[in-house]
Amino acid sequence: MNPARHLVLVGPMGAGKTSIGRCLARHFGLDFADSDHEVEVRTGAGIPTIFECEGEAGFRAREREALAVLLAGPDAVLATGGGAVLDAGNRQLLADHGFVVHLRADVPAQLERLARDRSRPLLATGDREATLRRLAAERDPLYAEVADLAFDTRHLPAADAARRLAGLLESQWRREALGQPRPEPAA
Ligand code: S3P
Repeated sequence: MNPARHLVLVGPMGAGKTSIGRCLARHFGLDFADSDHEVEVRTGAGIPTIFECEGEAGFRAREREALAVLLAGPDAVLATGGGAVLDAGNRQLLADHGFVVHLRADVPAQLERLARDRSRPLLATGDREATLRRLAAERDPLYAEVADLAFDTRHLPAADAARRLAGLLESQWRREALGQPRPEPAA
């Protein structure tokens, strides 16, 4: 059992972190936060503009800051950007302050879900499939390292995925950490 306060979602672009996260927040009666959104609000600019002006390194610095702020804040379901796990300090912070769920999606599912997306700078140029495969090779071990639970979202619409995942979390994530003990099961 992990007495974490936050429920943290990690995983690649297109895994459903934001849509599943919103459903889970509703289910558990928690706030929902999204590190990408937090970066954009704090910066006053969209992620493509941040990448353009400050490069990926600039974005990563802002992402680190946003994660630290959100994890120090009220209990929440927190969706993280796909590259948040690249930073060892972030991984430590997520593990220390959250029950971490790795939402998994394979490259064909990602390609399908992101087919019309133009908001992710890392997918803006070149061969999307090759990029996603390279990112998966680099990041999958890091998601696995930080995760308390892995959940495959491949064949499930977000609402169904969230419903099933919520069921798993009821038993695997200590609700007592939120100050909301579960009722004793009937004898
Ligand atoms: C990124 C994923 C994006 C966003 C940025 C970089 C990545 O978030 O943080 O475009 O490095 O994989 P999502 O995973 O929510 O798409």
